[in-house]
Amino acid sequence: MEKPISDIYRNIFVNLADLTHQIHKWVNPEIILELGCGQGALTELLASVYPTSHIIVIDITPRVGHISSRT
Ligand SMILES: C[S@@+](CC[C@H](N)C(=O)[O-])C[C@H]1O[C@@H](n2cnc3c(N)ncnc32)[C@H](O)[C@@H]1O
Repeated sequence: MEKPISDIYRNIFVNLADLTHQIHKWVNPEIILELGCGQGALTELLASVYPTSHIIVIDITPRVGHISSRT
């Protein structure tokens, strides 16, 4: 239940789907560097709209991407 609960909490502050949609309208990158990727929620969305882009993620937490299937 960690991911659904985390998604509900995060949606109070930012709509990552909208953010991803806006980014996708603005740029078409070959390489994406996500600083502070955390659990990988945005990473997953970026990977879905940029399936051929190379995505590099960085975070200081040792639990980086622990609930993501893509990080
Ligand atoms: C709000 S969370 C990011 C969530 C993620 N971008 C997402 O949308 O799923 C902020 C992240 O920034 C990371 N962070 C904070 N300071 C950092 C630093 N100096 N270098 C790398 N990561 C950092 C934290 O560990 C945390 O995972």
